[in-house]
Amino acid sequence: MHIQHQISLASYNTFGIPAVASHFIELERIETLKEISLAKNIPEQKYILGGGSNILISANPQGLVIHNCLKGIHLISETASEVVVEVASGENWHQWLMYALQQGWYGLENLALIPGTVGAAPIQNIGAYGAEVKNYISEVKIWLWETQEYQILSASQCQFNYRDSIFKHSLKDKCFICSVTFKLNKKAIVNITYAPLHQEFGSMELMDITPLMVAEAVIRIRKSKLPDPALMGNAGSFFKNPVITEEQFFNLQAGYPHLPFYKQSNNTYKIPAAWLIEQCGWKGYKGPRAGVHDKQALVLVNLHQAKGQDILELANLIIHSVSEKFNISLSPEVQCW
Ligand code: EPU
Repeated sequence: MHIQHQISLASYNTFGIPAVASHFIELERIETLKEISLAKNIPEQKYILGGGSNILISANPQGLVIHNCLKGIHLISETASEVVVEVASGENWHQWLMYALQQGWYGLENLALIPGTVGAAPIQNIGAYGAEVKNYISEVKIWLWETQEYQILSASQCQFNYRDSIFKHSLKDKCFICSVTFKLNKKAIVNITYAPLHQEFGSMELMDITPLMVAEAVIRIRKSKLPDPALMGNAGSFFKNPVITEEQFFNLQAGYPHLPFYKQSNNTYKIPAAWLIEQCGWKGYKGPRAGVHDKQALVLVNLHQAKGQDILELANLIIHSVSEKFNISLSPEVQCW
């Protein structure tokens, strides 16, 4: 086990925040988890680093930063219609997704180009363009730090919800996700219900659209709206889309007839946070260091050598103005370290 000290995290987080880790390890073998659990001379607090694409580092982490480099894709079982595949948590999400498509394993195509690792996908139940990963996960294998044992969680035990799971609640900081097992279709079931995706295909017949074409369309849309972290530091959507009650929704709609919304199954309404932020005048805002993307108001960007605190301050100003104008409280989607 090789612990490194005073490692710059600037290239390990897509915001490009120049924080420094006092203790850092590249985790390449699953057996090292036990060594970490037993080690006496390292800090108790652990920070798990995947692709660094959904974190905001607001201060130098005072603990052990574990960079997940676990790799491997294993076909567990196969029938005429489905495959079950276990994927190590350190695999890159998009590369795994494209590999699955090449094998003729379908279902994940709407989630193309989401940055980050496979292990991060269940934590926030990644979702985009009308799909959520929870519908394709059968199991998640974890290592529990305290009891020093592996456990396999079924999809229902993961308590998946919109950008939410057990890993943000009772298992927060308690475990390391080792692998995710997916159940994918061998028969293509194309889902282009999400309006902007539907528009990409114009009047094409559904039967002529392949999952690879869906992935390519998603990649085109994402590239047109979301800034490339290599060019401008960001972590995708900074906030979750708030879900409000029916009563709140009707009150709001009376004042804003063009309010966009997605009605949920339980009579609540999900409102695009990007719209609320844009209505408050923040879209395209440029502060000295941090700003709001000019093509997607939900994305905060590092304009010029921002520190974590600069991004946090801007996020708080946005939360405050959305609350003042709409009486809706936004909560961050990114994890703050
Ligand atoms: N809108 C605005 N202003 C903007 C952008 C959007 O008013 O600047 C409004 C429009 O009415 C638009 C609606 O918001 O129709 C929805 O916009 P979009 O389709 O871009 O999706 P979103 O709700 O802002 C969510 C996810 C994204 C995901 C897209 C596409 C969350 C927090 N974000 O964004 O996920 O790519 O849908 O499915 O749910 C991420 O999690 O990092 C992420 C990028």
